[in-house]
Amino acid sequence: MSHRPQVVAARLVALLAAGHLSTVSALLAEPGREGESPMSSTAHAAPSIPGYTLGTPTVPRSPLSMEELALLQKTVLFTDEDVKYLRLSGEVLAGQEEAVLDVWYGFVASHPHLVHYFGRKADGQPDGDYLAAVRKRFARWIQDTAAANYDQAWLDYQYEIGRRHHRTAKNRTDGAPSVDNISYRYLPAFIYPITATLKPFLAKKGHGAEDVEKMHQAWLKSVILQVTLWSQPYILDGDF
Ligand code: HEM
Repeated sequence: MSHRPQVVAARLVALLAAGHLSTVSALLAEPGREGESPMSSTAHAAPSIPGYTLGTPTVPRSPLSMEELALLQKTVLFTDEDVKYLRLSGEVLAGQEEAVLDVWYGFVASHPHLVHYFGRKADGQPDGDYLAAVRKRFARWIQDTAAANYDQAWLDYQYEIGRRHHRTAKNRTDGAPSVDNISYRYLPAFIYPITATLKPFLAKKGHGAEDVEKMHQAWLKSVILQVTLWSQPYILDGDF
């Protein structure tokens, strides 16, 4: 199947219009399935994911200190037990990443007001190359969230991810010809679908209901924490 962006976009538009969500998800999924899954690289291997710059000097320093991060973690009741259950979730989600992304991308694809943010400024059509490039980093994000390593490089990258959703740096990483900014209101709202749809995947490797619930709660806290950090570029200076 051709993955030329205009072909992908044309098919997406036709399928979206016809309401064929599962086919849309499959189409969005395919570029990510070529070659090795980004999830198969370990946290320490040099990953070849274009635009994934965690731990590199190109990432600006977070305006928040590690101490302020710790206070935010306390505020969301994030503890060492959550670290333990996030890492367990990493074992559970290993090999399921593309299936998780099919659901998340399917959710975005089925809502025109969301897929808009992956659309080309010129004609409003979804940009297949952009969707595919972001998907690879999204897969790596699942791994990083589960790894729960809260060091300075991680904190800095949260600031960078916020900038990439905001007009400060959206599109820059992939040279995407897309709209300039993601409206802030959708970031916190998106926490619910992301975490609710993850739960069935956490239950797929035979863990008991209590462990699944603890993994799920840890993910919820982590995503709330991350989206809070990503909010910074949207907030008036001095108000964060
Ligand atoms: C819970 C909320 C969200 C999560 C967890 C999330 C996660 C991510 C991740 C992991 C990336 C890649 C970061 C990287 O470059 O390494 C990303 C990028 C992106 N996300 Fe989100 N996202 C959220 C909300 C949204 C919403 C509501 C939209 C609107 C449709 C959106 C659209 C995008 C776009 C367009 C990019 C690419 C930005 C760029 O140009 O670099 N995201 N997101």
